[in-house]
Amino acid sequence: MNKSMSISQKYLFLFKFLRFPRQIGSVTPSSKTLAKKMVSAISWDKVRHVVELGAGTGVITHFIHEAVDSSGKVFVFEKDPTLRHSLKEQFPEYSFFVDATQLDVNLRSMGVEEIDCVISGLPFANFSQQLRDGIIEQVFQTLKPGGLFVAFQYSLQMKKHLEQHFKIVHIYYVIANFPPAFVYVCQKNEEIYQ
Ligand SMILES: C[S@@+](CC[C@H](N)C(=O)[O-])C[C@H]1O[C@@H](n2cnc3c(N)ncnc32)[C@H](O)[C@@H]1O
Repeated sequence: MNKSMSISQKYLFLFKFLRFPRQIGSVTPSSKTLAKKMVSAISWDKVRHVVELGAGTGVITHFIHEAVDSSGKVFVFEKDPTLRHSLKEQFPEYSFFVDATQLDVNLRSMGVEEIDCVISGLPFANFSQQLRDGIIEQVFQTLKPGGLFVAFQYSLQMKKHLEQHFKIVHIYYVIANFPPAFVYVCQKNEEIYQ
């Protein structure tokens, strides 16, 4: 993404935030430092199917694009139609969907049973308990045993909730982001499936 495009994407994101603050969840897209941190938590050589939830302007999607093998399949969920349209133009080879609450059914419609990892930029803190539970449960069900769920949040509010489903492997604090963010690296427990 060139510099002027990146600036216009930032304005678009801010405009969307002003209209839909709870859904967008942040005044500005994530920093490259945060996006890199999230993507580097994954061993990409083993990844065949990856999901990104809440892709926004595609800051994290760019790093996924750099990391994933050319034979890998990427499934992107973004609720905002303008942002989704722009993502489709940037990444025409990926599959796009509207709503993370339809993760399960959308993946099944593509014939996908299991996902190697899920990367999330969703603003869970703004969601109702029911919405949060519904999405986390579907992430858990669609991940393969040992698969990773990598999510950033601006607080540690989600820690207890995530621990109910996953083993939390790491929590990184990324100060070079506005606002500073926590990256949760969570694993679907392998042992109980062996
Ligand atoms: C905090 S922004 C993160 C954007 C981007 N990943 C980044 O790091 O800059 C959250 C994004 O999640 C999207 N979103 C919110 N609820 C969603 C849902 N139920 N399904 C898909 N996307 C959703 C918003 O439209 C917004 O683009």
